[in-house]
Amino acid sequence: MLESSAVRPLVFMPPELTRVPFAVYAHAEQHAAEQTRIFQGPTWNYLCLDAEVAEPGDYRTTFAGETPVVVVRDDDGEIYGFENRCAHRGALIALERAGRADSFQCVYHAWSYNRQGELTGVAFEHGVKGQGGMPASFCKEAHGPRPLRIAVFCGLVFGSFSDDVLPIEEYLGEEISQRIRRVLREPVQVIGRFTQALPNNWKLYVENVKDSYHASLLHLFFTTFELNRLSQRGGVIVDPSGAHHVSYSMIEPERAKDDSYKAQKLRSDTDDYRLKDPSLLAGFTEYDDGVTLQILSVFPGFVLQQIQNCLAVRQVLPKGVARTELNWTYLGYVSDTPEQRQVRLKQSNLIGPAGFISMEDGAVGGFVQRGIAGAHDAQAIVEMGGEDAASSEGRATEASVRGFWKAYRYYMAP
Ligand code: FES
Ligand SMILES: [Fe+2]
Repeated sequence: MLESSAVRPLVFMPPELTRVPFAVYAHAEQHAAEQTRIFQGPTWNYLCLDAEVAEPGDYRTTFAGETPVVVVRDDDGEIYGFENRCAHRGALIALERAGRADSFQCVYHAWSYNRQGELTGVAFEHGVKGQGGMPASFCKEAHGPRPLRIAVFCGLVFGSFSDDVLPIEEYLGEEISQRIRRVLREPVQVIGRFTQALPNNWKLYVENVKDSYHASLLHLFFTTFELNRLSQRGGVIVDPSGAHHVSYSMIEPERAKDDSYKAQKLRSDTDDYRLKDPSLLAGFTEYDDGVTLQILSVFPGFVLQQIQNCLAVRQVLPKGVARTELNWTYLGYVSDTPEQRQVRLKQSNLIGPAGFISMEDGAVGGFVQRGIAGAHDAQAIVEMGGEDAASSEGRATEASVRGFWKAYRYYMAP
């Protein structure tokens, strides 16, 4: 008899947030349970931008966890989402990444769906010349693909398969909502996109995003060019559920370069590197709070980035236990001047595909996945900055990583 994944034993999570069993990144059963309990559970999955499905008929295909979904705007102006799986034999309904459609037709046996995901047509439903066809009892209304609940917040489109999910603003909480509003304060345009293939479990990347401790130690660019150092003013906000976070810092040119990194003899602090074109770092002030770097995450797999004038959203998609797809979408404001747009595009080279920072984050996830291959009974230590998952002004802490595991335990509880 087949055992349901819900009753299989899951990786034992110790009660203290400071320990993470390595098995949690490597077990297929755990991975399958995450799909149902987290990605199809009462969470909000980031799907796309409102601006990417601006007109009736505009659609995008994407994923909620590993589940393929379609997001489409109908004539009523509303955005609809449904599983991209034909009710007949399960083929993908929409094959393109994006497009415009009056309706959708599965290529396999030509069953059709409207933009709200309702099954509207079955080819040869009544047979051919009196032969074959579906039984009279077959009811198309009863066989649509699974619908997604859709919520749009600040131009971000989220979807959930659960009827029990909290309303989006309640899910995010006031502090996180306000920090999203800060960046997505006016209409945006997509100015570039790329996908990064990560050789590791999705959770290692989400932890990396929340890990304010690593940024200036791993990333030579951040430290050497003083974009992000732990000695800068800033802080970490962890929402009460632990699920979401914000890490922020401020470049203060008037403050002398501190020598705390020199004292630690860190690889990331060096006098050997100079930029041939320092204009890469030149930007303009656009927020009056002085925050030059704000990294924000929403559980389970959404990231909003403001690094100086480089704005982006990132979507974290698991692709099996040890592979993750990271979709980057770079943004500018519709109101940008050509000069501002140029600055955003130039700065995207620092964090994006031409720079070292995202490459390094992808590499370390792979180093962990390879490092733990023979140690599924061992645990990671997450004790920097204490044992809790609370907000703090210092960033030499793993508080938001512990927050992730607090939320993870909540959703994965057997
Ligand atoms: S699988 Fe889609 S119509 Fe048959
Ligand atoms: Fe990083």
